[in-house]
Amino acid sequence: MSDRREFLRLTVAAAAGAAAWPAIASVSAQLPRRPIPGTDDSLPIIGLGNSNAFREGDVETSTRVISTLLEHGGSYIDCGGSSRFVVGEVVNQLDAADSAFIGSYFAGADDAAARADAERLLQVSGKPQLDLMHNYPEDAVPNWDRFRAWKDEGLTRYIGVARHRKEAYPQMMEVMRTGTVDFLQVNYSLLETEAEQEILPLAMDLGVAVTINRPFINGRYFEIVRGHDLPGWAAEFDCESWAQFSLKFILSHPAVNCVLTETANPRHAEDNIGAGFGRMPDAETRARMLDHMRSIAP
Ligand SMILES: NC(=O)c1ccc[n+]([C@@H]2O[C@H](COP(=O)([O-])OP(=O)(O)OC[C@H]3O[C@@H](n4cnc5c(N)ncnc54)[C@H](OP(=O)(O)O)[C@@H]3O)[C@@H](O)[C@H]2O)c1
Repeated sequence: MSDRREFLRLTVAAAAGAAAWPAIASVSAQLPRRPIPGTDDSLPIIGLGNSNAFREGDVETSTRVISTLLEHGGSYIDCGGSSRFVVGEVVNQLDAADSAFIGSYFAGADDAAARADAERLLQVSGKPQLDLMHNYPEDAVPNWDRFRAWKDEGLTRYIGVARHRKEAYPQMMEVMRTGTVDFLQVNYSLLETEAEQEILPLAMDLGVAVTINRPFINGRYFEIVRGHDLPGWAAEFDCESWAQFSLKFILSHPAVNCVLTETANPRHAEDNIGAGFGRMPDAETRARMLDHMRSIAP
């Protein structure tokens, strides 16, 4: 049975047994992974963004969403501020310190404060080492030596820069050109395609792993497509929802390792994870998807 068919079968079974959520567990189809350049490591292609459930300290909802990701072989969870401690606690409770990959923001200017936060995250999550410490370029660029020191001493496996606006791309590319950036996190979707021009090709050239934020431009995408039918030809690449339409477009760009989907709704998490299975659009279909989106949102 294909992974996609297995994913669908288990999702239907989970929906039928919602009271027992999230007990679909051990037999779930596992998300495909893509290599982290220059390492033996890899990442599953769908991750979670920093959701309101994390921000509000809603442990029950956070647990349901994170469990859903992990049960399908997902790993990456993006979080910042106090959210990271909620995520760390849930990961520890789920005994998932090894399988979860936590990407978190650390300001570089105050080394002692950043280290205190890092130590606390290690303690609450049960991780021996942080996975990814990243930050906005305006903080990362002036403090990059400090970021590198954190990696050199083993506090974190990876360091990176993360932003969601094209105005930040020049600064992000400046730090990427030092050759010491492991991860880029940037916005990219059917409605925000600017990253295609320079920053994603540069990441491929330099061997920088890429995660994508704002796949649904923070929810506005769903307002734009509301009332429009998904085109029939979306079935040709195993796409069953507008969420998957966006995610499969993003995942079919060759620079992308993982897309970060923010949700506080486990059903939406299932929908988003479904985008990681089955066929992906080819170049011709990607162009058709863009044309279609422009006809909806000129
Ligand atoms: N570094 C940076 O500068 C930066 C900037 C922006 C974002 N980010 C990261 O990227 C992540 C994602 O970006 P984003 O914040 O713009 O959010 P997003 O993922 O583009 O959109 C989230 C919105 O989409 C809704 N949604 C998610 N899946 C859905 C589905 N299958 N069906 C219907 N609605 C769905 C969510 O509502 P529900 O909760 O109801 O599902 C929420 O309102 C963030 O959480 C953060 O981790 C980083």
